[in-house]
Amino acid sequence: MRKYCIVTFGCQMNVHDSEKISGILKAEGCAQTDDPRNADIVIFNTCSIRQKAEQKFYSELGRMKALKKKRPDLQITVAGCIAQQEGRNLLKRASFVDNIIGPQNIHMLRNTLINMSAVIAIDDNPDITDAQIPVSRSDGLRAWINIMYGCNNFCSYCVVPYTRGREKSRASESIITEVRTLSRQGYREITLLGQNVNSYRSDLDFNGLLRELNEVHGLRRIRFVTSHPKDLSDELIDEIKSLDKVCEHIHLPLQSGSTRILSLMNRKYTFEEYLDKIHKLKMKIPTIAITSDIIAGFPQESDEDHESTLHALEQIQFDGIFAFKYSARPNTLAAMMDGQVDETVKAKRLHQIFSVQDSITERKNKELEGTLQEVLIEGESQDKPGYHVGKTRTNKIVIIPSTYAMKQGDVITIRIARAARHSLEGAPPK
Ligand code: SAH
Ligand code: SF4
Ligand code: F3S
Repeated sequence: MRKYCIVTFGCQMNVHDSEKISGILKAEGCAQTDDPRNADIVIFNTCSIRQKAEQKFYSELGRMKALKKKRPDLQITVAGCIAQQEGRNLLKRASFVDNIIGPQNIHMLRNTLINMSAVIAIDDNPDITDAQIPVSRSDGLRAWINIMYGCNNFCSYCVVPYTRGREKSRASESIITEVRTLSRQGYREITLLGQNVNSYRSDLDFNGLLRELNEVHGLRRIRFVTSHPKDLSDELIDEIKSLDKVCEHIHLPLQSGSTRILSLMNRKYTFEEYLDKIHKLKMKIPTIAITSDIIAGFPQESDEDHESTLHALEQIQFDGIFAFKYSARPNTLAAMMDGQVDETVKAKRLHQIFSVQDSITERKNKELEGTLQEVLIEGESQDKPGYHVGKTRTNKIVIIPSTYAMKQGDVITIRIARAARHSLEGAPPK
């Protein structure tokens, strides 16, 4: 039996693609291992979003050279966004790579296994929405589901439109069938995936899809990432409020608090428009958690623009953020702009962003002390022996002493006893 090892970098989309890669290999009779040294097949599922992610991959790939020399029959595949971006160029850097397979062509992996032939598959594949690929999911409770692929937005800093191709939505029936099957198998939570998940449009729009999925028997929670602010409609806010399975959490990347920078980023909204949507979300759904992404040091970002971002964080009070130093990426417009910001300035700004947000996150969590929260139990805590771990509907991690009777998949109401920046501790209500 041939053994395979998958090394995954990047976003949930890639993590889910790795579940598909695993599904294909298992269907061909291969077995999974975590150690590349025990494997006959090694697959790198790569990410190109920032330079750091790319460097991490290249250093891991470098280690494979000696292994391949010792065992020439070892099959090495590069999949994911760097595969798409670099194509054949990868061979110049690492001639020992056998296959290069872009995210739109994962199904091609099967051919390389059966025919034992090298494959370079980086063509656009609009049929990806119909692909019947077996999925080997790593969790039995929560499942990721692609509802749309690609991106049409071309934010000026971003590689995704080049690596994942144009936007394509899956037919609703195929999504609904997948979710029904998952529910029958015992899954309780689904997360709908798309680069701009709320831009979903096939025979149904995103709101229509949510309404259908809300009817699936046995399912408890529906989440979705990532939402683009430009497509966050009043109707979607109403659906989040009224559909009982749709969780009160939205990840809504702001990127910058300066409208001038947002325009250079080609984000298609002003800061005021974004703020207006935040107000509507909070007004209609007071318990909603809002998280975001921020980029520090985009080209031409002045001290004043940066101050606007810090001010925006204070004004909006996100529950949490991901923040990154701007990283110049191949093919993108921003990489060619004048006024690239110095690395030390970027680092300083990023640090300030985190320090403002950290106290907000902590304060927001503290506000939850004493409140009742619905928690989906995920299992025993790996980090803290003697505790179970789960998440609130608002996607916050909660630990609960294991002395209380509970098991994976239970949905229980607990009272938040203590809150810290990264987690909440709960106890059943008296
Ligand atoms: N489709 C989603 C997520 C895209 S990637 C969206 O539109 O929000 C996730 C995050 O990475 C982005 O929101 C952005 O904050 C960050 N990012 C993307 N390209 C980047 C770059 N070149 N440098 C730094 N951060 C970047
Ligand atoms: Fe990248 Fe913008 Fe598309 Fe998000 S919306 S994937 S940031 S181009
Ligand atoms: Fe990275 Fe590609 Fe996702 S660049 S963030 S793996 S879409």
